[in-house]
Amino acid sequence: MRLFQFFLLLTIYLHGAFAVKEYLFKKCAQSGFCNRNRHFASQVAENVDYQSRYSIDESTLNYIESDASIVGDIFKTVSDSTKIRFPFIINILENNNIRLRIDEDRSQIKLENKLLKKERYNEASKYAFNGEPKSSTNYKFNQISNGKFSIVYGDKNQYEAIIYTTPFKIVVNYNGEEQLVLNDRSFLNIEHFRTEDENDVNLTPEESSFNSFHDDFKDSKDDSLIFGPESVALDVSFNGFKHVYGIPEHADTLSLKDTSESEPYRLYNVDIFEYETDSRLPMYGVIPFMVAHKVGLSAGIFWVNAADTYVDIKKTENQVDNVLSSKTDTKTHWISENGILDIVILIGETPTDVTKSYASLTGNVQLPQLFSLGYHQCRWNYNDEEDVLQITENFDKYDIPYDVIWLDVEYTDSKKYFTWKKELFPDPERMLNKLDETGRTLVAIIDPHLKTDYEVSDEVIKQDIALKNNKGEPFKGHCWPGESVWFDSFNPKSQKYWDHLFRNGTGLAGDATNFHIWNDMNEPSVFSGPETSSPKDLITYGDWEIRSDHNVYGLTFHEATYESLTKRFVNKRPFILTRAYYSGSQRTASMWTGDNMSKWEYLKISLPMILTSNVVNMPFAGADVGGFFGNPSKELLTRWYQAGIWYPFFRAHAHIDSRRREPWVPGEPYTSHIRDALKIRYALLPLIYTKFYESSITGSPVVDPLFYITPENIKSFEIEDEFYFGGLLVKPVTDEGAESVEIYIPDDEIHYDYETYQTYQGEGDHHIEAPLGKIPILIRGGTITPRKDRVRRSSKLMKYDPYTLVVALDSKGDAKGTLYIDDGETFDYENGDYLYINFEVSNNEIKSNVNSGSLNASNKVEKIIIIGSSTGGIGNEATVSQGSEWTTSIISGENHAVIKSPGVKLNENWSIKF
Ligand code: NOJ
Repeated sequence: MRLFQFFLLLTIYLHGAFAVKEYLFKKCAQSGFCNRNRHFASQVAENVDYQSRYSIDESTLNYIESDASIVGDIFKTVSDSTKIRFPFIINILENNNIRLRIDEDRSQIKLENKLLKKERYNEASKYAFNGEPKSSTNYKFNQISNGKFSIVYGDKNQYEAIIYTTPFKIVVNYNGEEQLVLNDRSFLNIEHFRTEDENDVNLTPEESSFNSFHDDFKDSKDDSLIFGPESVALDVSFNGFKHVYGIPEHADTLSLKDTSESEPYRLYNVDIFEYETDSRLPMYGVIPFMVAHKVGLSAGIFWVNAADTYVDIKKTENQVDNVLSSKTDTKTHWISENGILDIVILIGETPTDVTKSYASLTGNVQLPQLFSLGYHQCRWNYNDEEDVLQITENFDKYDIPYDVIWLDVEYTDSKKYFTWKKELFPDPERMLNKLDETGRTLVAIIDPHLKTDYEVSDEVIKQDIALKNNKGEPFKGHCWPGESVWFDSFNPKSQKYWDHLFRNGTGLAGDATNFHIWNDMNEPSVFSGPETSSPKDLITYGDWEIRSDHNVYGLTFHEATYESLTKRFVNKRPFILTRAYYSGSQRTASMWTGDNMSKWEYLKISLPMILTSNVVNMPFAGADVGGFFGNPSKELLTRWYQAGIWYPFFRAHAHIDSRRREPWVPGEPYTSHIRDALKIRYALLPLIYTKFYESSITGSPVVDPLFYITPENIKSFEIEDEFYFGGLLVKPVTDEGAESVEIYIPDDEIHYDYETYQTYQGEGDHHIEAPLGKIPILIRGGTITPRKDRVRRSSKLMKYDPYTLVVALDSKGDAKGTLYIDDGETFDYENGDYLYINFEVSNNEIKSNVNSGSLNASNKVEKIIIIGSSTGGIGNEATVSQGSEWTTSIISGENHAVIKSPGVKLNENWSIKF
């Protein structure tokens, strides 16, 4: 069966002929722990008198004043004679986040299997958090009285957590109003350890025993389920919040759907063939972080668990005197297969605050090398050295900028990673050097499955750094190369060997510095495994079942690669693309949305998917431009490029069976339209780089959903086909045959057309003509966008070029903006070798102030475009001051004026009066 399945899946992959094989993936009803918890929840919900069986024993409470934490025991009353103890800890963290952890006391249990730890898995936070979180210093405990205790926190005492002991419940207030309630619906459920024989006496009447000790789903039948049932589940209600976002990865809407009548959102890293849109099925990555937003307040939940997880969402309208009020609550139910219960609650005044607060816990995005924000050309596969160089030549011939060419699995000898197919790539270093001559970079794929019987897998087995089966032997399964073993990147010892494989000089790419890595299939994808992934009872380093740490495996793999590349390069920022990811992946990798299709609906869904990624602080995100499976029409390809230039990670990719479709392939007028779009991207690289810098410092998104800019405007909460990239409001065309769009402006701020400077103003829809060559882009009044208008073959060749500043005046004639500059490749910026500049315009004067950094950049400003009706009164001369004073000319045009060659250098402050 296993081999047969492997070949079936290989066929599907290679030929891409079918739609997603939904039946390969467990529905909640087929999954033991999800089925049991949905059943439990329905029993509890039906019984209006039900009281949660969980309560805190007041005598166990201990207030640790020095560490902003309270510990104690929660007991679950199974029956009169059976009470189970769960130690808990509540901490108030910096940034006014509150964390609750509930563990199970397993010290008394006897586990026959000596290969595994018997404790519940508690290491998800070790991988997700960016170091140990700091405790708050702004808090006050109100000790137990009348069955509750509370913690007041925040600099204005604006937060309060009230913890009720019997039954257990936590209410979180902000400014005196109830915002979030934990165990509001009494769905808290921790399946404590018991053997199969003891199961009956350990079940409460509301519980079921469905698939507790075996799994009857297809290829999961061999699952040893040594621990039996051990799920953790909790409900969290968001009061007055109609919209919740996040918890990727799903091909679904930005504002998440009510799942009462459907499948819950599933969070489990899997390789999902030909995924469908409008789906709650799991995908390649997981970030168990949800953001809720309403006018005046935003909140977040970070469910720190790395096991298979389902999330149910229920939206309920509150009834007031039988009349439906406008207040909607969102009630969520989080269900994980095992691990401790670990949850962080974040509340802020805006959604940006909540995203940043989550970033303060898990780390900010790495500052990427500038080249990686350029255009990436990929397909499965570029065949040989000649092909690679020919593609590069064609980009130059057709005057189309590009930075990176990619090699997929076929470059290797028989899919043995760290080898080259010598007859096709006889001299990789020569090829890399040739690419380097025009500033181009190569990215090659390295996957975690290692073909058996070759030196790398032999060594991995010898060094005991392979994933193990439930008997403790190296696990063998099937993937691209046929039979393979999997690299166990949880094992700290594995790093040394990985470093060796990537070593400089005699390793994979000689000493080339224009060589970076793509980590694919790291969910991990196992063609012969259940749900195309690893059996859940594999053992990872630390004696944990992969059942517990499955969703962080991909992160450990790309982090190992990152570390090896940092060593290989000495002082260059590594670029890594990963398919599987978890909270924390943003610190070292970019992601893409996997194997989409060359269809309009996939172009459309890429926008909410990438916005979701930005909401949850994984902003370096993209989707395969053109669609992976199939062949896009020329129109679709063109529209996809016009949308793709706004993906923070911008790469075209295609399946091995698809036809060639590099930008010159469709011919005119398509090639010109694609070239124009790419040139917009390249001109905007200073803006894009600045947005990444700001995200790397503050955790703010790179691309903002509309409601991040106008959090008070309810109408913007569900908009997912438009976004702001800095001051640019963009609505890519995603409908076949469309010649115009209605673009929604979310407030009364004035906006200008990106090319004609025509004015659009007024909250509401505005009609914009958008024939095939046009991307609807408006510039928001009050912003300053930095650009480099001399677009060249690659971003590296534009390094010393001068800047253009695009000043879009608001109705008062003011504007603001920022610009970040550094060498674009090393870590020297960490020692101050950069410039972060503030620009400000008011009263017909633009001022530039270096905010921080001290790079001796020689770049100048070559022109300043000032847009706005008030430019009508501008004269034809501007006075520039930087050390001394001089004048320069101004040329006026329709609704704008251009200050020509002001001659200012960016590393010193300056001002210009116009
Ligand atoms: C699966 C990836 O999603 C796809 O992008 C890649 O081309 C194939 N693996 C082959 O490596």
